[in-house]
Amino acid sequence: MKLRVGIEAMGVAVPRRFISIEDLAERRGVDPAKYTHGLGAREMAIAEPGEDTVALAALAAQRALAAAGNRELGMLVVGTETGVDHSKPVASFVHGLLELPRTMRVFDTQHACYGGTAGVMAAVEWIASGAAGGRAALVVCSDVARYGLHTAGEPTQGAGAVAMVIAQDPAMLELDVGISGAASSHVHDFWRPLGQREAQVDGHYSMRCYTDALATAYRGWKQRAIARELVLGDGIASEQLARICYHVPFCKMAKKAHVALRALDFAELGRTDTDDAAAASFAAQVEPSLAACSRVGNIYTGSLYLALLSALDASASSLVGKRLGLFSYGSGCTSEFFSGVVGARAAELSARAELASVLAARDRISIDEYERIMGLTAPLGQPASFRFTGVEAHRREYARD
Ligand code: COA
Repeated sequence: MKLRVGIEAMGVAVPRRFISIEDLAERRGVDPAKYTHGLGAREMAIAEPGEDTVALAALAAQRALAAAGNRELGMLVVGTETGVDHSKPVASFVHGLLELPRTMRVFDTQHACYGGTAGVMAAVEWIASGAAGGRAALVVCSDVARYGLHTAGEPTQGAGAVAMVIAQDPAMLELDVGISGAASSHVHDFWRPLGQREAQVDGHYSMRCYTDALATAYRGWKQRAIARELVLGDGIASEQLARICYHVPFCKMAKKAHVALRALDFAELGRTDTDDAAAASFAAQVEPSLAACSRVGNIYTGSLYLALLSALDASASSLVGKRLGLFSYGSGCTSEFFSGVVGARAAELSARAELASVLAARDRISIDEYERIMGLTAPLGQPASFRFTGVEAHRREYARD
């Protein structure tokens, strides 16, 4: 018997501080329209060292588990590209901080911003295979995105975590298991050498790698989706998806991706007319997913899932029973286009993530304070649900308040 598997509940954590992107533009002597219209940013989350990948992951995970209610867990996966140790996974810290059951599989997955999706796929296929025996999985995407002061990537930083309970008969989004397309190639578009806090990025090249990967992954998904009659091949396939959530390194990238996707659909239908509906299609299918991303910035592995939560938060009740497309991209690179159908209780479950309150609880800081925090190596020591407190005997220590 085919099992229905997907996202049961979600939780989000962001740092307590953010800056206005216009304040940053002003300080850097850049026209604010470049950051707001050119990149699509409004605000950017700023993490102090106490709010590291583990602390953010633990808080998001705690919230997702509270939203899901009582669930027997058999797997915990953390997708991250900003781990805190070369060997000990972020997942094992989260497992300990949340006092999760001993009888679980616990591990990290890494491939730049795709790492979270690697975890989602591992969990979904574990449950779909029947091996989970009715147990659920907790998948957490957590990262602190840093390019450094005065770099081209500076306005596209951010930090945050999104956690998901993956389960049978899911309330939020049932994934189309086995209907996905992947694309990978060995490229140096973005990487972070061992020992460096800041990423290296060839930004314009990374945008080309992203759109090239999208084309191949989308074609793979489309072929399978048409064969299984999830979409009709004689129409514009992407228009048959109620929303498309893209990986969001910065919001404008999602717009570029969507334009490229439609061009591909047009080309495959042999159409040579201009795409007059492109702007309306972006506004309806993609824009609602960008609200939170524009206020947090890039959160690497979690960006796609923050976009998904935004889209559901905006209009889950009108999306029930409708199919969404998702595109996950990890530099280096690997990618996957997949899809899922919105569940009957998606509005109730997305409301439990309390996205608006999580964002509203933050403090806006000045650019002076941001620059000071970016230079810190030791935690500020402020109370928080979970926080990194320092290194003792080569061990990272965490506190719970
Ligand atoms: N008003 C409005 N828009 C403006 C503007 C102004 N005054 N000045 C520039 N712009 C627009 C540009 O036209 C461009 O938009 P377009 O690409 O649609 O044409 C956009 O703002 C960015 O300008 P650009 O000159 O390309 O910026 P940049 O070279 O300084 O850097 C990135 C932009 C995105 C390449 C850089 O921030 C980066 O590398 N970020 C990291 C990207 C990443 O994470 N990649 C890895 C994962 S996929």
